Parts: sequence; C-alpha cells; structure tokens
Amino acid sequence: MSEDWLLEAAGGNAGLLATMRQRVQQGEPPAYVAGFLYFRGRRFRSDPRAYVTDPELSSLIDRVLMEGDRFEAEYGRAPQVLDFGVGAGTLGITLKLERPAWTLCGLDIDADALSLAAENASLHGVELPLWHSDMLSGWPQGRPPPDLIFGDPPWGSETDLYTDEGRDADYYHRMPAASAYPKGGRTAIHDGLVAAVVARGWPSLLVLNYGVLPEAVIERSARALNQRRIEHPVPGVSHLVGRSAA
Ligand SMILES: C[S@@+](CC[C@H](N)C(=O)[O-])C[C@H]1O[C@@H](n2cnc3c(N)ncnc32)[C@H](O)[C@@H]1O
Repeated sequence: MSEDWLLEAAGGNAGLLATMRQRVQQGEPPAYVAGFLYFRGRRFRSDPRAYVTDPELSSLIDRVLMEGDRFEAEYGRAPQVLDFGVGAGTLGITLKLERPAWTLCGLDIDADALSLAAENASLHGVELPLWHSDMLSGWPQGRPPPDLIFGDPPWGSETDLYTDEGRDADYYHRMPAASAYPKGGRTAIHDGLVAAVVARGWPSLLVLNYGVLPEAVIERSARALNQRRIEHPVPGVSHLVGRSAA
C-alpha cells in the first residue's frame, strides 16, 4: 500500500523514488514522504502537521454511518456530528462525502492539524467548520450539543500497537506530540471527553476508537456513561458506543 503511494508520488522519477524509499526506511511515515494518504479510496493531503489516519479507522466510519443512519430513521432528520480530534480531517471529510445531508464539524487541540484539515476540506469541496479546542472548551457557546460525537482520540502507550508491520512506536513518535500516546495514561483523553460530555449533560451518542486496549481498561474509561457497549470490528480492535442518558 505505502509503496503504491511512493510510486504515485514519484511519478516515474527513479531518483526521487529511491530517495523516498530511503526516507521511509529511516522511519518517516510513508504518507509524509508521499505528501498524501488514501483512505476509503480518497486522497488526502498529509504532512507532519497532523497524524496519519490509521487504515483501521475505516471500520469506525462504518460504525458511525450505521449509528447516524439509525438516528435519521428514528428522528426523521440528519444528525449533527462532531469529529473529536479531527487531525487532518480525513474522517470528518469522509463522512461528509458519504452522507452529504449530515452536518459535520471538527475540533482539535492542535492548530497546525486544523490548518491541514481546512486544506483537505477545501480540496474535497466540503463544508467542515473547525474549532481550536482542548476537549470541548472551544465548542461555540449557545450551539446545541451534537447528536453524535466520534473520533480516534490518542490512546495507549508504546506497547499498544496495531499488528501491521511498519507502524511501531517510532512511527507514532514521528506524529505531532498531541496525537499519540496521551500523557496522563492510556485513556486520558477518552476519560476527559467522557467526563466533559457527562458534566455538560449532553445526550450525544459517543462512538470512540480505543484501538487495541483491553476491554477492562475501556470499561473503566467509559464507566460514567450509563448506556454503553464495546464492539469489535475485527478481533483485538475495540469501539465504544455509549451515551449518558438521564
Ligand atoms: C490519533 S489522532 C487522530 C486524528 C484524526 N482523527 C485521524 O484519524 O486522522 C488524535 C487527534 O486528537 C487530537 N487531540 C489530542 N488531545 C486533544 C484534546 N485534549 N482536545 C482535542 N483534541 C485533542 C490530536 O491533536 C490529534 O489530532
């Protein structure tokens, strides 16, 4: 897959291809070297301003589509959806392209990542309001809570890795500091988001990736949500689906 990206980026220039392969061998994420990544068949600009979306996140998109469609069938209107930790915008833009009637917005603590998300939204011609925000602090005052909040907040420690070769701890250390390996514990950002949603009394449905973390760790992180379930799109990968219901 990443070799295909390098071939495309090199455009038949053998010298450039050799240099790119060398950079990848030295540990640079292939998406940064190519300048783009593909996700669900679409091309997104990629550079060190933002995290490189993991391919496993396609199953999170499937989950959000399922939950959003269910919402639409039940309430007779399209959901308002927040991409928490939007990064380069890959996930939110994908959803907007696959469900144009839905309202999508995104937030991130990292202003550089947001600048790349804005570029990607423009390249794909989609409207994606973006806010600079630590947790939910930047959510515009007076704006109703989103119906659905989803994302892949940073999780885990250096030994919690997807099984794919090439994405080792060093690979993730090449990403922006706020995007991988949260300070404060393996689920610190998820815990903070759950606490913020509960504290605001938001009825939003949360759909969060917890990657390869053990079920007991996820249960502890999400225990403040009185409705919750853990789904496994593939063995060993977990999504939380839950809400704090009155
Ligand atoms: C694992 S990356 C995922 C990025 C993107 N969703 C994707 O899949 O490509 C996690 C993202 O969460 C953001 N983040 C980390 N801590 C945050 C916080 N306290 N509030 C908002 N965003 C945060 C990071 O800056 C990063 O962009």
